[in-house]
Amino acid sequence: MAFGRGKAILLGEHGVVYGHPALAAGLEVGVTAFATDAKEDRLFIDPWDVEVSPADTPELAAAFRAVRGLYPERPVEVRATVALPAGAGLGCSAALGVGVVRALDAWAGETPTDDEVAERALRWERVFHGNPSGIDNTMAARGGLLLFQHGAAPVPVRARNPIHLVIGNSGSSSSTRAMVDDVARQRTRSQKKVDGAFEAIAAMVKNGVAALERGELKNFGQLMDMNHALLASLMLSTNELETMCQEARSAGALGAKLTGAGGGGCMVALAPNAEKAHEIVRSLGHINKEAFVAQAG
Ligand code: MEV
Repeated sequence: MAFGRGKAILLGEHGVVYGHPALAAGLEVGVTAFATDAKEDRLFIDPWDVEVSPADTPELAAAFRAVRGLYPERPVEVRATVALPAGAGLGCSAALGVGVVRALDAWAGETPTDDEVAERALRWERVFHGNPSGIDNTMAARGGLLLFQHGAAPVPVRARNPIHLVIGNSGSSSSTRAMVDDVARQRTRSQKKVDGAFEAIAAMVKNGVAALERGELKNFGQLMDMNHALLASLMLSTNELETMCQEARSAGALGAKLTGAGGGGCMVALAPNAEKAHEIVRSLGHINKEAFVAQAG
């Protein structure tokens, strides 16, 4: 079964679109997919109950066309099962793209490397996000804990301690394309402010990698909080995300921030240990927010 994994950006979203580095963790959850010969080309997506043919006009059909063209012409049916919330900052569309690409690879008898899979899935991502940095499709194909920078080979980060994360969903979805476009508009109006924020975030990414390598989780948590404040200054946070980050911190998180495009979607918190991570999940449950524990690296 082909698999594309979800991701959580721990530091650096949005700046990464402008060539700055970002640090992300692959998740255990994602999209599984399988391809077989068929009478005509079709993509089925569960549990959304969606059926797409490459001739349809919606974005999903365009994305399917974008990758379908890379493979033999004989008709194929791809069935994908999505176990990630869509529009929640966890890289659902990239995980779907990678799942579909890997299913088509297996069907066509091809064995590309993870980086080649990521490259193919970028065609899919471009349909949805216009100008993606490439972090989501890279994480969906490779997983692990990676330092990503557009145009450079991703660098695996060796954290000294296990990293216990809590991912909490605000329940409101947002469009990555819309949030990236909104930041671009702000940058047109006040380039100095936006570039200044991204430079500060880039320094946090650098310091964050060093903190993880040295096992300084408290410092890493502080960097997450600072990164969140800068993202909020770019109007990427919401009241719900603020409440959730606050709740996670009060429940013992070392740091918490929005993750992904913002404007809704998920937050990620760093717990000092596994037990605390479960406590944080429970406290988010008390404010009616779904959350789960994930381990990075
Ligand atoms: C989306 O997961 C991350 C963004 O930085 C967009 C991108 O990198 O393409 C918001």
